[in-house]
Amino acid sequence: MKAILVLSISLMMLNSQFIKTTPSIPCDSSIYLLPDIYYVKGSASTIVEPTQAVVTLEIEVKDLKAQVALQQAAQIADDAVKAIKENCQGGLKIQTADFAIQPHKEYSQNQPYAVIYSGFKVINKITVETLNTSDVGKIIDVAVKNKVNKVNGIQFDVSKDEKKRLKNFLVELAIEDAKHTANVVLKELKMRIESIKSVQLLENYGSETKTKMEQQVNVGFVIKPID
Ligand SMILES: *[C@@H]1O[C@H](CO)[C@@H](O)[C@H](O)[C@H]1NC(C)=O
Repeated sequence: MKAILVLSISLMMLNSQFIKTTPSIPCDSSIYLLPDIYYVKGSASTIVEPTQAVVTLEIEVKDLKAQVALQQAAQIADDAVKAIKENCQGGLKIQTADFAIQPHKEYSQNQPYAVIYSGFKVINKITVETLNTSDVGKIIDVAVKNKVNKVNGIQFDVSKDEKKRLKNFLVELAIEDAKHTANVVLKELKMRIESIKSVQLLENYGSETKTKMEQQVNVGFVIKPID
């Protein structure tokens, strides 16, 4: 009983919303009753699996002589890169990201604070980008085995192509979602979707995270009474 009441009220509201009273239109009731656009929101979301990873490796070498420190750091970098290439097949991109040499002093812990070491420090940074995210552990193992002394960071990311593919997929799903909602409501009102008039993609503000993608749409339907 309650449901019927709600239904009839919403039907009345809907009807009243659709009646056009522009006096310039000829006196034809079918024109007066042409529906407005019925707007329904739809949404879809998905978990995003990373498609690539970037590992930043750091080699730090100290020596009394700058020349020796430079050579050692270069040798370690060469060995590590070669070993990583041998162990990880396909989709590797390796770059020397940063390179620095500076004077390096160490002081005694006890007074008097004397300089106990004075030499040079070389820091060599290498980034390894892989399209196989399962290879990250192996890259680090191989690098450390080859005297790389620091792993500075691991970043997982999703390729542009994959992001585009997911977005297209989500737009389709979100429109389907809106259509589904519209059908549920319209069935109760004895109306149906005639066609889609417009689709507005709603931008997300801050709701997108690294592991989840979301898309909302606002779909305008042309609707008709069920004959
Ligand atoms: C990705 O890496 C894992 C672990 O190293 C390996 O078992 C697998 O064969 C690799 N997949 C491809 C497509 O190279």
